[in-house]
Amino acid sequence: MKSIQKPIVSFLSQPLEKKAKTFSKDHSLSFLSPREVRKFHKDKLIIWLHSDGIFLQDLSLKNSKPFSLDFQAQKKENMSKNLLQRCFSKFDTDYPVYDLTAGFCLDAFLITRLGFEVNAFEKESWLFEFTKEKLLKNKIEKVKLYKKNSLEILSGIDSKSIIYLDPMFGIENKSFAKKEMHFLRKSLFDRSHELIESSLKSKAELIVIKRHKIKKKKISKSPSFELVGKVVTFQIFDRRKG
Ligand SMILES: C[S@@+](CC[C@H](N)C(=O)[O-])C[C@H]1O[C@@H](n2cnc3c(N)ncnc32)[C@H](O)[C@@H]1O
Repeated sequence: MKSIQKPIVSFLSQPLEKKAKTFSKDHSLSFLSPREVRKFHKDKLIIWLHSDGIFLQDLSLKNSKPFSLDFQAQKKENMSKNLLQRCFSKFDTDYPVYDLTAGFCLDAFLITRLGFEVNAFEKESWLFEFTKEKLLKNKIEKVKLYKKNSLEILSGIDSKSIIYLDPMFGIENKSFAKKEMHFLRKSLFDRSHELIESSLKSKAELIVIKRHKIKKKKISKSPSFELVGKVVTFQIFDRRKG
């Protein structure tokens, strides 16, 4: 089983000390002063509270800097070549999308840009708060983000729906990961197999699973088709009739 490193909460400007303490309490994370971080925890995952919002940093990475989320960079990605676009262009935009592994909502954001309504669910409370702040700041209203374990909402999903899953995979291979995903992989435990299998038992006619080439744990059913990219593959389970 992979070992998880819980992020530590600290602050980047003195007036935010109290806010950082409250944040750490609310999410059951440890709080340290910036001095303690610098002196004793030079290799840890840090959640910084700053006057501009919440920032993340993995101090174990050389030359790392606190980072936020860049939805604009996502937008600039060449959508015509994008595998996600190729995948969702096969579906009717009237089908609501349930992103059951919301994370930073970077994929959810791109899916809304393709014309879909996205309900996204994230179980990790600090991450929910971080992503919610970024969605608000960037005025991204089309992604509806909820703090919830997705396993609890599966039974309420209608047949004319799309379930989207981007489960976490191992942390062994650093080279693939962008800093954002790297932070998540190091800090979160993910029972993705259960979520995948439960999603396959739901009523949703369409299920899309983003899978990484380095980790493909066997799924009980075979997908209807796959879209294969350099690093990721989308497995599509199409249960629409006719
Ligand atoms: C690889 S990340 C997804 C990244 C996301 N696609 C993005 O674009 O930012 C997987 C996320 O799924 C969340 N997750 C895993 N199982 C979940 C569950 N049962 N309910 C809600 N969230 C879950 C994890 O906490 C993690 O944040």
